[in-house]
Amino acid sequence: MNLHKGQHIKQTVKVFAPATVANLVCGFDILGLALEHPQDEMIVSLSGQTGIRIEHLDAYDLPTEPEKNVAGAALLAMMEEYHEPVGFEVSIQKMIKPGSGLGSSAASSVGAVVGANYLLGNPFSKDDLVRFAMFGEKVASGVKHADNIAPGIFGGVTLIRSIFPLDIVPVPAPQLFITVVHPQIEVKTADARQILRKEVLLKNAIKQWGNIAGLMAGLMKGDYDLIGRSLEDVIIEPVRSILIPGFDEVKKQSISVGALGGGISGSGPSIFMLSKGQAAARAVEEVMIDVYQRLGVEYKTYVTNLNHQGAIVEPYKIIE
Ligand code: HSE
Repeated sequence: MNLHKGQHIKQTVKVFAPATVANLVCGFDILGLALEHPQDEMIVSLSGQTGIRIEHLDAYDLPTEPEKNVAGAALLAMMEEYHEPVGFEVSIQKMIKPGSGLGSSAASSVGAVVGANYLLGNPFSKDDLVRFAMFGEKVASGVKHADNIAPGIFGGVTLIRSIFPLDIVPVPAPQLFITVVHPQIEVKTADARQILRKEVLLKNAIKQWGNIAGLMAGLMKGDYDLIGRSLEDVIIEPVRSILIPGFDEVKKQSISVGALGGGISGSGPSIFMLSKGQAAARAVEEVMIDVYQRLGVEYKTYVTNLNHQGAIVEPYKIIE
């Protein structure tokens, strides 16, 4: 390619950052998985000047000041540890609607740090990137949690055994189909956390521990029945599900047409269901469509798979 005088190729990448399902029903704040679809698209460039410039190409009216923007906050955390002056430009095209329960804010933070790390020659590990991206979650919901961030970076199913210190365990999983319905109402994560009780009854904690361990064992052994039995939440779901119209019906009917189980995706309002095969996943989608059409609530559905790579980076050419 011939460049004209004064033109140069800007060091730029395109990043695809996946939607994620946090909690996986019983694992509040400690389990998550990445989806093949939907994915946010971002263009990240090394800038000639220090600092961060953010632009949103979507219509969501999200803040663009770096400190208030989730991608900006994550990049600021990364730049603080880079110890050399550096700057980035980020253009974000969100395909994951904010407030959907599909890890929209995490996708922006993840995409920004994965793209920036690539442009710097990958000085940071995946664990480092999770640490930086969690600053974005703090901006979004007031609390650092990694159950959307970690699967967005590692792909697949991840266990966050601890965030301080960070201890992320990628969990092997058998083939799974994931059906998601996103009723078009907004539930803010901060609000959905606010309504939770601060104390847990010991008998409920025991049930929940059994389910988390059962889900881990089921995923690792490829035991679909055990996965299904373990998708039970006696602590968070009873409180949060009242925010989601049609939740009980979607869950009951999805299981009756072959889903292994499922529940609230992250803090909602999306609902996800896991299935062993595609036919069941499609039948679940029909159930979801039927419920929301009857309720007269706008909705969007996805039938998708586990995303095993997390966010991916493609070199991209911008000539200036
Ligand atoms: N674990 C978080 C919550 C995920 O449920 O509040 C938010 O997406």
